[in-house]
Amino acid sequence: MKCTILLAALSFISSSIVYGKNNAYYQCGGVNWKGPEDCPTGYNCKKYNDLFSQCVPEEPNNFQIKSKLEGFAEGTTGGYNGKVITVTNQSELEGAVSGKEPKIINVNGIIKLTKDITLHSNTSLIGVGNNSGLTGAGIYFKSESNIIIQNLKFSYCLGSSKDCIGARRSSNIWIDHCEFYSDLSHDKDYYDGLIDFSYACENITISWNYIHDHSKVSLIGHSDNNESTDFGKFHITYHHNYFKNCISRLPSLRFANAHIYNNVYENIEYIAINSRMKSQVLIENNIFSNVAIPIATNRESIEEGFVNERNNDFGNSQNNNSITKIGSFTSLPYKYELTNVSEVYKQVTQNVGPIN
Ligand SMILES: *[C@@H]1O[C@H](CO)[C@@H](O)[C@H](O)[C@H]1NC(C)=O
Ligand SMILES: *[C@@H]1O[C@H](CO)[C@@H](O)[C@H](O)[C@H]1NC(C)=O
Ligand SMILES: *[C@@H]1O[C@H](CO)[C@@H](O)[C@H](O)[C@H]1NC(C)=O
Ligand SMILES: *[C@@H]1O[C@H](CO)[C@@H](O)[C@H](O)[C@H]1NC(C)=O
Ligand SMILES: *[C@@H]1O[C@H](CO)[C@@H](O)[C@H](O)[C@H]1NC(C)=O
Ligand SMILES: *[C@@H]1O[C@H](CO)[C@@H](O)[C@H](O)[C@H]1NC(C)=O
Ligand SMILES: *[C@@H]1O[C@H](CO)[C@@H](O)[C@H](O)[C@H]1NC(C)=O
Repeated sequence: MKCTILLAALSFISSSIVYGKNNAYYQCGGVNWKGPEDCPTGYNCKKYNDLFSQCVPEEPNNFQIKSKLEGFAEGTTGGYNGKVITVTNQSELEGAVSGKEPKIINVNGIIKLTKDITLHSNTSLIGVGNNSGLTGAGIYFKSESNIIIQNLKFSYCLGSSKDCIGARRSSNIWIDHCEFYSDLSHDKDYYDGLIDFSYACENITISWNYIHDHSKVSLIGHSDNNESTDFGKFHITYHHNYFKNCISRLPSLRFANAHIYNNVYENIEYIAINSRMKSQVLIENNIFSNVAIPIATNRESIEEGFVNERNNDFGNSQNNNSITKIGSFTSLPYKYELTNVSEVYKQVTQNVGPIN
């Protein structure tokens, strides 16, 4: 009884004191503040100083891990400023992906997929915490642009493409702080690629990923016969990735323009970087440790690719490169922070993959 009276009295007081209401843009804290501290849905109590906090709209982009976008995908914004949707299973994910309006899809937990999911333009797909992702199948997109894929674990991708991430005719794609893996106990064609791009995809950055226990990792350009579509395209940057226990295609490139810096390659059974079909590849400040053939330009295609390499540490495979064509690609149209090769191993192995 006393309680009811007190509550009634309080609500009477608060409705008559403007500052007591936890409405949008009202005060919600500060030294000596005695009013409500909670804010309406869609608003957060933001502290400006010790004296004043205010209910302001939630940051549209309230979950995006901090990482700097460098390389050919510069300018990619994904779902920035769009609506934020959190999904926990395949049907929710399927419901969230449609349309090209900007959207940030937060994946919470590991979602088992029975088929590949199609993403559309202006999307960020981001894992919550350090153990969220997709397993069983992957994502695929065609003729889309402006996509960020971040902080997710991808594994055992056996959808119709058999790729974890596969795309055609798409541009401005950033894949950052993810983990990709399957196993080496099946034959090399049981799974396909972890990250494969074909049909003249453009302006891509692949950074800070942990990529391990897989055969054919990353194929750029799917055929020797696609010169008319692909030549001069595929501008792609790989930096600060950790490739461990893999067989080949790290990446394999046809008709591409690739910049590969500050990656760690460890225990690679066949060719790590394979430049084919007139590709131009600049390879700098990477570490290769126990890699059969770190770099090749004259394997597996009807025409050779080109390479320029500098400041790489080839470890015990110093003499195993097969570089037959020196290229013309030695400077970049963007600024980037190159890590001293002596610091790359520690920096990369300690910072790749999803973070909490
Ligand atoms: C997916 O998750 C939502 C929200 O938790 C739930 O309502 C729905 O039943 C789930 N769907 C399936 C197929 O599990
Ligand atoms: C989203 O992406 C497309 C390109 O695929 C673009 O034309 C469009 O303007 C973008 N923004 C919105 C709000 O749809
Ligand atoms: C993931 O986050 C948890 C805390 O939630 C932490 O205990 C764990 O060490 C993290 N794992 C990795 C691999 O960083
Ligand atoms: C790729 O980026 C370059 C440089 O910003 C730009 O000129 C070009 O139009 C982009 N290509 C596509 C397909 O978005
Ligand atoms: C690309 O190559 C495939 C396989 O050789 C071929 O079927 C297709 O017609 C080619 N497409 C173009 C646009 O050149
Ligand atoms: C380098 O090539 C030789 C000859 O093919 C091979 O025996 C050796 O194992 C290779 N080095 C590494 C580190 O794999
Ligand atoms: C890279 O590190 C080595 C060894 O610590 C040092 O000698 C060299 O000056 C450094 N180079 C640059 C460009 O910082």
